[in-house]
Amino acid sequence: MNATPTLTALADRLRATLGERAVLTGRDTDGYAADWRGAYRGEALAVVRPASTAEVAAVVTLCREAGASIVPQGGNTGMCGGGVPDASGTQVVLSLDRMRAVRAVDAANDALAVDAGVTLDAVQEAARANGRLFPLTLGSQGSCTIGGNVATNAGGAGVLRYGMMRDLVLGLEVVLPDGQVWDGMRALRKDNTGYDLKQLFIGSEGTLGVVTGAVLRVFPAVAARATVWVALSSVEAGVALLALLRRRAGARLAAYELVARTALDLVLAHGTGARDPFGEAHPWYGLVELEDADGEAALESIVESAVGEAFERDLVADAVVAGNAAQRAALWGLREGVSEAQNAVGPSLKHDVSVPISSLAAFAADADRAVEQVVPGVRRVTYGHVGDGNLHYNLSKPYGADDAAILAAADALTAAVYDAVARHGGSISAEHGLGRTKAAAAAAYKDPVELALMRRLKSALDPDGLMNPGVLLS
Ligand code: FAD
Ligand code: MLT
Ligand code: ZN
Repeated sequence: MNATPTLTALADRLRATLGERAVLTGRDTDGYAADWRGAYRGEALAVVRPASTAEVAAVVTLCREAGASIVPQGGNTGMCGGGVPDASGTQVVLSLDRMRAVRAVDAANDALAVDAGVTLDAVQEAARANGRLFPLTLGSQGSCTIGGNVATNAGGAGVLRYGMMRDLVLGLEVVLPDGQVWDGMRALRKDNTGYDLKQLFIGSEGTLGVVTGAVLRVFPAVAARATVWVALSSVEAGVALLALLRRRAGARLAAYELVARTALDLVLAHGTGARDPFGEAHPWYGLVELEDADGEAALESIVESAVGEAFERDLVADAVVAGNAAQRAALWGLREGVSEAQNAVGPSLKHDVSVPISSLAAFAADADRAVEQVVPGVRRVTYGHVGDGNLHYNLSKPYGADDAAILAAADALTAAVYDAVARHGGSISAEHGLGRTKAAAAAAYKDPVELALMRRLKSALDPDGLMNPGVLLS
């Protein structure tokens, strides 16, 4: 679609308000128009880079007057294409990459107030510098932003102990679709003064407004960690190990990740120096981490007794405990490296699904049977956050096949997985959101009453449908 005259004038009006350097057009927008996986490439009318909340509000107002839709963008690490424009050339990408200030630290209140464009790494560092921990942990943390984490309700490896992003936000500042600023930057643990509006924006993927600031919960710094990589014979054994770990370690159980051998093979082949800790291959692996604000001795004895019991009950076939920080990082590298390694072997179908933990093994077996019927030999690169019932049930082409083998059957494979998810009472998006990828599927799998309610909320807040159209709601 060609830009209309009003849209054509918009870039000039944005420049007049924000200054020349804050508005990109033409080829300068390329880096903002495609996602990191290369799965989505759109075309932006302009990319705007405001430096303050007031500037964000001015951009939203100008876009509304011109009838231009807005795609908020943080670190552009999203998995579902929600942060990149469509191909129409009429959308404005609003990047938060110049809003990177830590606004305030209130250590006594265990709270941190930040701009939405601050990277997750920088927030973790600010917490550390004040003797605290910000526990959200993602493989993308060097690039993803707090605004993106809020907008996607990000999960990751620390959810077991600390919860999702939804549990880590005390307050928000949001520029609404009509240009008003909602100042909800409260740092309260208790506030029963009506609807909890911040929760509406958390997980809204840029469809209800632009998050410009957040007050985050922080926790006591962790003094001791114990990290163990175990070999498992099956998902059932992995789930039984979770119950054992919960009983023995209680709240000290901070992370429990599952990795299939197919996924480990990709990491080992990817050429980053990763090494298999064991001499022989096993079908599944678990990465367990315990942490404590006290010393290491207690953790060591819990690990010893828990792993001992797991061996006795035949739940694990082998185990290695990280002896120092470098070994711990190497074990985490085996888990965190899967995403990038899978990306390197060609197109993959990502299915970020959750089911009740009690159904994980049955779901995996059911889905395995269903996808095998669609494409015999399709590679299940399964891994994820077993402690949260969240599997990344990703598919790659069969060994030796070319890309067409999986691309031609993509819709049928995804339907097979989602039908299995539905049979086991699960969700088609555990932590990545719906974005462009899953908006239509959500319309098919979600309860119609819930969908209608979501649409009513959307039109109440954004009656002109200018905030990230096509994302989350199809
Ligand atoms: P973007 O990709 O820029 O945007 C994502 C969505 O949020 C879009 O819909 C966008 O419009 C919206 N948005 C962004 N900023 C704002 C804002 N300020 N206001 C309103 N809307 C906004 N995710 C997990 O949950 N768990 C993981 O374990 C995990 N691991 C990952 C590992 C790797 C290697 C990679 C590349 C990604 C991983 N992700 C994971 C996905 C991704 O990092 C998260 O979804 C992250 O929260 C996105 O943040 P971002 O700043 O990059 O957002
Ligand atoms: C992860 O847990 O590594 C991520 O959520 C990313 C992915 O699905 O690859
Ligand atoms: Zn994940």
